[in-house]
Amino acid sequence: MAERVVIVLAAGVSSRMNTLLPKVLHEVGGRPMLAYVLDACRKVDVTRIYVVVGFGADQVREQFSDAEDVVWVQQAEQLGTGHAVLCCREPLKDFDGQTLVLCGDGPLIRDKTLTTLIAKHQSEHSAATLATAVLDNPAGYGRIVRDAYGNMQGIVEDADCTPEQLAVREVNPSYYLFNNRILFEALDHVKPDNVKKEYYLTDAVSWIIASGHKVVAVTAVRPEEAMGVNSRAQLSVASKIMQQRIQQELMENGVTIVDPDNTWIDARAQIGQDTVIEPFTYIHGVVKIGKSCRIGPFAYLRHGTVVGDDVVLGVFTEVKNSSLADGVRARHHSYIGDATIGRSVNIGAGSITANYDGQQVNRTSVGDGCYIGSGAILIAPLVLKDGSHVNAGTVVSQESTNELGEQPAGQTNAKSVSGTGR
Ligand code: UD1
Ligand code: CA
Repeated sequence: MAERVVIVLAAGVSSRMNTLLPKVLHEVGGRPMLAYVLDACRKVDVTRIYVVVGFGADQVREQFSDAEDVVWVQQAEQLGTGHAVLCCREPLKDFDGQTLVLCGDGPLIRDKTLTTLIAKHQSEHSAATLATAVLDNPAGYGRIVRDAYGNMQGIVEDADCTPEQLAVREVNPSYYLFNNRILFEALDHVKPDNVKKEYYLTDAVSWIIASGHKVVAVTAVRPEEAMGVNSRAQLSVASKIMQQRIQQELMENGVTIVDPDNTWIDARAQIGQDTVIEPFTYIHGVVKIGKSCRIGPFAYLRHGTVVGDDVVLGVFTEVKNSSLADGVRARHHSYIGDATIGRSVNIGAGSITANYDGQQVNRTSVGDGCYIGSGAILIAPLVLKDGSHVNAGTVVSQESTNELGEQPAGQTNAKSVSGTGR
């Protein structure tokens, strides 16, 4: 089997996004777009991943600093997608295998489509294979031009299309697999003679066809994964599609989502079987929720939250960077930040952790079986022993618990904390 590498194009300036942030760092489902493309590459057999960066290169590299399998390639000037691929000539000059080329602005890519593309390339023994999509509205995409027999003749960019070509609904979502040697030979022939004055990768495909090599286009890309994100509006559409995918998978895993349209769940969230997510719940970041929980309505779970089984988090409960053991109840208007909450703790309405003292964020630890009455303020850093009882309306600091008589270590008797009032 031929060795395979991938080149991901992520260097472009995104004028249409009107942004200072590199386009591929814009988030979909809580993760940068590029992360999804890299994930898809990792699921098919590739020996190396080259990512071409340019505009905002340092930011991209920094955000993906733990991606040890990525080789970063610099494109100093953004002269087009063909030019971007050419920046990989040096590391690939002796490479005799297959080169997959993908764009970093296509987060909806599915690895299954890449598998189909690879299989087609191998069975057809083609010099280049493309996976294409048929769209109701092909505006903005390169069109696949075929002859009367259906053989591919080339790709014509939207801006360069004749009125007849504009009507073609088969488009190029930029999923390509090339014979590496032929790819770089073709790129030597590409000239920037088009409306945008750029070196187009699509012209390399047209050159490969014109020079008599076999190029195959397989219509394997579903319309909803074809999207390249070029504008904020497209970013929102991609986010919506991603959200549907995330929720679909969770539902298949046994999670009830009462109102999918009014729920937002991060791609990195994990949720256990028979947990019910009530409407207007927002789960952002790496969040893990156990089994048989009831979350929401109007709950806000943030990065670093780990929730055990059988937990109830209700209306306007916000949790950040905290772990909640099995059976915790926080049904109404709570903020739990940077806390460790023990088993079966009840957190009354309106009780919060005061986790930030103006200088630093401090942790709160609430032992198993504690009862926190309504309207309590737990001033961190704070440790409440197992079974502590905090009266409603209490402001609790470590000093106030000590004043009330510190219990010997390990003692689990209920202790009533009240006093400072508010
Ligand atoms: C490109 C394709 C078009 C296809 C569409 C699919 C070309 C010429 N056109 O158009 O046929 O339908 O994708 O989404 O390839 N990039 C660089 N360096 C550059 C220019 C671009 O790395 O100099 C990167 C961008 O960051 C982006 C990707 O290449 O991730 C695609 O570039 P973009 O400008 O978005 O191309 P499209 O106009 O969308
Ligand atoms: Ca694009």
